[in-house]
Amino acid sequence: MAYSREDIDRVRERTDLVELASEVTRVKRSGRSVMAVCPFHSEKTPSLSIDPARGLFHCFGCGKSGDVFGWVQETNGLGFSDALELLARRAGVTLTVDPDAAKHRDRRERLIDAVERAVSFYTDRLKTGEDAGHARGYLRSRGYDADVVDRFHLGYSPEAWDTLVTYLRDAGVKDEAIRGAGLASRSQRGGLVDRFRNRLMFPIYDVRGDAVGFGARLLDGDGPKYLNSPETPIYHKSRLLYGLNWSKSQIVRSDEAVVVEGYTDVIAFHLAGNPIAVATCGTALGEEHLDLLRRFSKRVVLAFDADEAGAGAAARGFERSVPGDLDLRVAVLPEGRDPADLVSSGRIGALTASIESSLPLLQFRIDRELAEFNLEEPEARGRAVREAAKLISLHPDPVVRHEYAVLVSRRTGVDVPTVESALRGPNRPAGEPPPPTDERQLTGPQRTEREVLRLYLANDRGIRDAGLSADLFTLPEHRAAFELVDALIGPLGPDAVPDLGSAIGSDDRPEAVLLRTLALQQRPLADASDVARRLKQEAVERQIAALQAELATVDADGDPQGYSDRFERLIALQNERRQLRSRE
Ligand code: UTP
Ligand code: MN
Repeated sequence: MAYSREDIDRVRERTDLVELASEVTRVKRSGRSVMAVCPFHSEKTPSLSIDPARGLFHCFGCGKSGDVFGWVQETNGLGFSDALELLARRAGVTLTVDPDAAKHRDRRERLIDAVERAVSFYTDRLKTGEDAGHARGYLRSRGYDADVVDRFHLGYSPEAWDTLVTYLRDAGVKDEAIRGAGLASRSQRGGLVDRFRNRLMFPIYDVRGDAVGFGARLLDGDGPKYLNSPETPIYHKSRLLYGLNWSKSQIVRSDEAVVVEGYTDVIAFHLAGNPIAVATCGTALGEEHLDLLRRFSKRVVLAFDADEAGAGAAARGFERSVPGDLDLRVAVLPEGRDPADLVSSGRIGALTASIESSLPLLQFRIDRELAEFNLEEPEARGRAVREAAKLISLHPDPVVRHEYAVLVSRRTGVDVPTVESALRGPNRPAGEPPPPTDERQLTGPQRTEREVLRLYLANDRGIRDAGLSADLFTLPEHRAAFELVDALIGPLGPDAVPDLGSAIGSDDRPEAVLLRTLALQQRPLADASDVARRLKQEAVERQIAALQAELATVDADGDPQGYSDRFERLIALQNERRQLRSRE
């Protein structure tokens, strides 16, 4: 966004980095120098130095450095303009922006305002409403006192059709905002009807701390147990984590985040004195949630029900996130217990212990796979090793793969060389498969081809709908990889991630190796319509160039038909190119 340099400088001048830092970490002043415990890596003694006068920081431990904006970007997980806006608000600086951005922001603010008013309405009802007795009774049964209600802004939505709508209208909130924020929907008779009725309300905040929606638990009667806000311009469930706004600073400090199943589990971690938990809001944990979390901590522990954690994480293809910068782990909770149950029954120790003894996701899956077999029997041992090898081969690092081979050997009694040969696949000669072409050797268009493949791996709906075909790719390995991934996702429903492990986990064909490599890349995915358009555009350019070359060799007088055919095709292609360009 186009902010003026003057605005940025004004915000910088009015922001005290030491004050910002002390909100998330321990800061020590001695004389003129200011040192802090670095929130970006794990340490006990301060090695992050702050220059208060210039508003700069540098860590001698991990090398991170930056200015006030960088600080807020890193600690709050924001992009530059969000960081600037946040600091501007703190500093009382009004940013001048272009009118479109302002319109956008105005709408966002109106919707947030509507949600925030709803939060206070619901809270008020919960505390004092005559109709909320059963809701208060439910809270008592869960062991939630007034402090919990205040801390998490819990509320009660009344039973009647339009209590909230009426309240918001009286407060001057426009119908457009009430609906836009997902708080009400249009009834058949044309009026507005509250979306949430007779439910315990859990307000959901985005990472900045703005109220964007609700999770709502049924108290009695019929209906789904939990109902969430619909997708709105401020509520994107694939990018929201309940509790992150309250947990983020502790997550940064303890360099660990725990992903739990629901709102009550997040609250349980707070009650247990360890506010590092977040939960998805009515959706499965996805790549974008992990992208959000990894800004705060590289260590992410999944603390679902034991079955759910392993199976769920596997189905969603999270092996892809095992390597690289993210330490994705699984905590095995005591049988059939969620964190909320453990805390309310006073077993905080058991909860802490299971988080502390979390296992790397891959190890967890290997252990569970092996447990399926009777390792006393030779055949079963063979099959167990092959299955485990499929999982191990998902890891890109040969050293780590070797370590897992050693682990599987220890667990099964099969010697390490045999496990390692299983890693190379069933009947394949020893030796590493040929590596895919190094990214740095690719041309720009070929990089686009890889981006398209990555979107296919994520089974991105946009790319599936783009109607691409193998002949749009220039590199043979890309064409083959496209055909392979297209076949893999063909039978899947929208957005279900293919299980590469079982499909091509030990497939040594170059296209399979390439897909596995791409699946492990941590970069965010490109925009589907954008790369699809670029891919088509490149193909059209190539066809145009080829046709022009051909035309130059055709004799217009000797072969008038051949000439005009080609000429027509050229015109058609040029039209297509124009259309593609107009979508840029
Ligand atoms: P539970 O089913 O345990 O909910 O799910 P609960 O409110 O604790 O109900 P009881 O009292 O045990 O029967 C735990 C979390 O999973 C999420 C909610 O966030 C809840 O806090 N959840 C559960 C949903 O999002 N949707 C559902 O349909 C169920
Ligand atoms: Mn429960």
